Amino acid sequence: MNRKLVEQNVNGIRMRALVAGSGPPLLFVHGFPLSHQMWLPQIEYFQSHYTVIAPDLRGFGDSDITDGIVTMEQHARDLNVLLQVLKVEGPVSYCGLSMGGYIAWEFWKHFADRLHALILCDTRADADSEEGINNRLKMADLVLRHGPEAISTAMIPKLLSESSQQKQAQLSENLISMIEATSSEGIAASQKGMAARSDFSNQIKNIRTPTLFIVGSEDCLTPPEVMKRMSTEVPDSKYFEVREVGHMAPMEAPESVNQAMAAFLTACSSV
Ligand code: MLT
Repeated sequence: MNRKLVEQNVNGIRMRALVAGSGPPLLFVHGFPLSHQMWLPQIEYFQSHYTVIAPDLRGFGDSDITDGIVTMEQHARDLNVLLQVLKVEGPVSYCGLSMGGYIAWEFWKHFADRLHALILCDTRADADSEEGINNRLKMADLVLRHGPEAISTAMIPKLLSESSQQKQAQLSENLISMIEATSSEGIAASQKGMAARSDFSNQIKNIRTPTLFIVGSEDCLTPPEVMKRMSTEVPDSKYFEVREVGHMAPMEAPESVNQAMAAFLTACSSV
């Protein structure tokens, strides 16, 4: 299988992405504070029918870090240029989790004609409350002073359901390794970017791209009711809830998520 890690100059940084397979382009955008590695079960599954592109966003994984603040719009602009330099001409299917979903709204706002389909996992369209913003700024400060180890273990109960923590211990280890491999500056910059993100809740009714919402039934960060409500607002959309899993549904229940995605993508390409 054609699979390689590529490095591209994108908006002044060196951006790394895993590119695999061939066929229509399928872009995977990771959550916070992770890397493209969270999508390995999806990359493995979809590379036989799609050109899978799974970047490390600015400040994460092996991509360059810029400190200060990295906005969701900046991430969306990076993805657009990455697709250009990879010579992906036609519209892409965009699959993002959580922060990858916040970036999806910006991608849609600026580059809607580049979208063939949207798959949004465990995310939300609204902005943060004042308390949420303060918590993010405190977390950014903590990480800058003490490193990602100060947050990694404490994040696990928010990311995985209890059942996944008990039955799939390896997942916690993988997530902790991914978080601890991330630079403090990269974490802080995107955390500040998320704190400053726009509220898209009144705009998503204007999305004309076919959209699939996927959520873990035990997701405590972006719960099913939040995702279900969005699915009633986006006109051409479907909703899929995965039992017994949390915020990291694609990692916790890869088979169910892959099947739901595959059925949706097949339906999108046959219309
Ligand atoms: C994520 O998984 O990307 C985060 O939960 C996003 C957030 O902190 O809002």
